[in-house]
Amino acid sequence: MQQVTLIKHPLIQHKLTLIRKTETSTAKFRALLKEVSLLLAYEVTRDLPLKSELIQTPIAQMYAPVLAPEKKLVIISIQRAGQGILDGMLELMPSSRVGHIGLYRDPKTLIPIEYYFRVPNDIEKRDVLVVDPMLATGNTAVAAVERLKSTNPQSIKFVCLLAAPEGIKHFCESHPDVQIFTAAIDEKLDENGYIIPGLGDAGDRMFGTK
Ligand code: URA
Repeated sequence: MQQVTLIKHPLIQHKLTLIRKTETSTAKFRALLKEVSLLLAYEVTRDLPLKSELIQTPIAQMYAPVLAPEKKLVIISIQRAGQGILDGMLELMPSSRVGHIGLYRDPKTLIPIEYYFRVPNDIEKRDVLVVDPMLATGNTAVAAVERLKSTNPQSIKFVCLLAAPEGIKHFCESHPDVQIFTAAIDEKLDENGYIIPGLGDAGDRMFGTK
C-alpha cells in the first residue's frame, strides 16, 4: 500500500463523518466537501519545493521561503463530482490552472465514456492533481489518468475523499507510478459499484439531483 496515502487528520475525519450522514443537507454537504478538500490540498502539497527570497520586514532584511516558481500545478476535475474538491483546492491555491475531464459510467457496464476533455496548453510543464471524491471501481480514475498521461505532464497525483479496496487495486495495477491520496478506505463495493458504507452518490448529494 506504499502507493496510497491515507490522510488521517482529525479535522478531516470529523468532517468526513458529517459528509457521510444521510441527513446532511445539500448546502452543508457542499460546504463540508470544500473544507475537507482544502485540508486535503494542504497534505497533498507537502512536497512542493521552496526557494529563498530576500525580503524586507519592518525590522530587518531576511531570506524567506517562497514556493519555487518553476513548480506549476494544474488541478484536473473529473466531472461532475470532482467540482466539489476543485473548489476547495482553489481556495488554498488560487493560481493553479484547471482542467476538466468529462467521463460518465455506463450504468450497465460501469465502463467510463469520455464526453469532455479540456486541459491547459502547457500541461507538459505542470504537475497534475486529478480530483474526484470517489474511487469506486477505479474505472473512471484509470481512464482519466491514462488520458492525462498522453499529454505528458511532469507528474500526476490522484486525490479522492473515499476509496474502495477494489478501486485501489485496479488503479495501482494500472498506474503503479501514480500516488493516491484518500481520507478513508471503506469496506467494499455493492453490485451497482457504490462504495459501502460510503456516502451515496457524491454528484447527486452535491448538486441535489436526487
Ligand atoms: N460514485 C459515487 O458517487 N458514489 C459511490 O459510492 C461510487 C461512485
